[in-house]
Amino acid sequence: MRIIILGSGQGSNCKAVLEAASSNLLHSAEIVAVCSDVETSGILEIARNASVPSLFLGPYNFNNKKADETWIKEVKKLNPDLIVLAGFMKVLSHNFIESFGGKIINLHPSLLPSFRGLNAIKQAWDAGVKITGCTVHWVSPVLDSGEIIAQSPVRIMTGDTIESVSAKVHAAEHMLLPTVIAQLVMHLS
Ligand code: GAR
Repeated sequence: MRIIILGSGQGSNCKAVLEAASSNLLHSAEIVAVCSDVETSGILEIARNASVPSLFLGPYNFNNKKADETWIKEVKKLNPDLIVLAGFMKVLSHNFIESFGGKIINLHPSLLPSFRGLNAIKQAWDAGVKITGCTVHWVSPVLDSGEIIAQSPVRIMTGDTIESVSAKVHAAEHMLLPTVIAQLVMHLS
């Protein structure tokens, strides 16, 4: 099962997935490439350090037809069975999503359907909820609204700060994402 990871940021979730793969926790999965829209992103460095092909595919914007077509072409060349969005911070075009219909999952730092979009941890913090968390869901054309695969809750305690909540959400993500990928690999292969 060929998996590619797309991300824009520091790549801590990509690192968790690569570590799970190298510990044989992802069964028959092979992480065939890590792709980013940010040339200097930590996620590409993490891939390089793990000797996984790291590809900067250029800036991405769903409104930019040329960039969208380039991304679709390059990702198709990798022939993925599963595309994992791990901190990919751009909205994908409908064309992109349809080109890889049903094969894209996204990690989101809230308990969807609450707090869609950017800065989800801050949205939850500002709303004063006592339980937040993270979600892995299938990507559909409506942002952060595809079918939920799995969620992990995080309790917000007295004395927490937005920084401590962020750290707890990220720790939960680092367990959830590799677990979901392992389950999907078992199910789909
Ligand atoms: C993660 O918290 C992920 O849930 C979030 O970006 C972070 C990436 O961290 N994604 C989104 O907000 C997508 N809407 P990482 O680069 O350390 O894995």
